Amino acid sequence: MEPSPGEHACTTCGRRFSVELVYQTASVGGERRYFCTTVCRAASIGDGQHRPRRARRIAVINQKGGTGKTTTAINLAAGVAERGHDVLLIDGDAQGNIGASLGIRGERTLYHVMVDGADPLVTAVPVRGHLDCITSDRSLAAAEVWLARRDDADRAQVLSKRMAPADRRYQYVVMDCGPSLSLLNQNALMFADEVLIPVACDYLALVGVKQVLQTLREVDRQLGHGVRISGVVPTFYDARVNLAKEAIETLRDHFGERCLDPVRRSTRLAEAPAHKQTIFEYAPLSTSADDYRRLVDKFVTLGGA
Ligand SMILES: Nc1ncnc2c1ncn2[C@@H]1O[C@H](COP(=O)(O)OP(=O)(O)OP(=O)(O)O)[C@@H](O)[C@H]1O
Ligand SMILES: [Mg+2]
Repeated sequence: MEPSPGEHACTTCGRRFSVELVYQTASVGGERRYFCTTVCRAASIGDGQHRPRRARRIAVINQKGGTGKTTTAINLAAGVAERGHDVLLIDGDAQGNIGASLGIRGERTLYHVMVDGADPLVTAVPVRGHLDCITSDRSLAAAEVWLARRDDADRAQVLSKRMAPADRRYQYVVMDCGPSLSLLNQNALMFADEVLIPVACDYLALVGVKQVLQTLREVDRQLGHGVRISGVVPTFYDARVNLAKEAIETLRDHFGERCLDPVRRSTRLAEAPAHKQTIFEYAPLSTSADDYRRLVDKFVTLGGA
């Protein structure tokens, strides 16, 4: 499709946009080029000032169910995008909760990226400013079967390979993982540079963390890929419950500074998905929005971005 008047197609990613900032246009060898973001400019001409950089790839993971992974992935991605960073949110769970929570449904899904080799940049749908999403649905279970049938050493690397184009387009890629020890999650860990582990403040959750650590060690040992734990997020925190306080103490003993401030238990967080909104949209003045804002601030700072 031809760009509308006043719009230009980005030389790197093809996205149409209006030039508003100086860096968005450059003359190279007498030819005019256009770049929608500094990332695209750097990918095309890497002129020092706008150095190319790889997207930060974060897997939100815990094989235990219901620990706040999806809630954390959505609000982290939305909060980072609100700060003006380009973010891709990937739903890595066949439950398809991300699309349902944000009121979107991609024509194509992560299944098509994984199995058919669909371009992730074409598959991603714009959700909010600076935030795109690759959704999932039940078809992802078939991707797991497809991975299981591949009996090669590369089957844990499929996602990393398929997602390579996203590095040029996004500054952050956040992947919400399902509650399992699946091949897809192994792919997520191979793809990720860092993991964020939401842990519900109860005893069993701590057992879940131990299991995640074990998985990370396995990935490191078997596949030679070290993943950094950028944070453990205590969720469903209720200061009136002794068990919750003890859980935080145990997490702090174990993870030190990587145990981030807790996200409190709140009905606001449980309600937001029914309204197809992030917590910042649904209840911007709530304690839950404060909790996730604090997480976003910490997270962005942790990566030095
Ligand atoms: N801090 C919180 N306080 C109250 N409810 C919450 C909180 N965080 C998440 N919830 C709600 O708890 C439920 C489980 O949360 P969520 O879906 O984020 O967990 P999950 O780890 O992604 O689950 P699964 O393992 O099934 O993917 C959801 O209904 C969500 O809205
Ligand atoms: Mg989930």
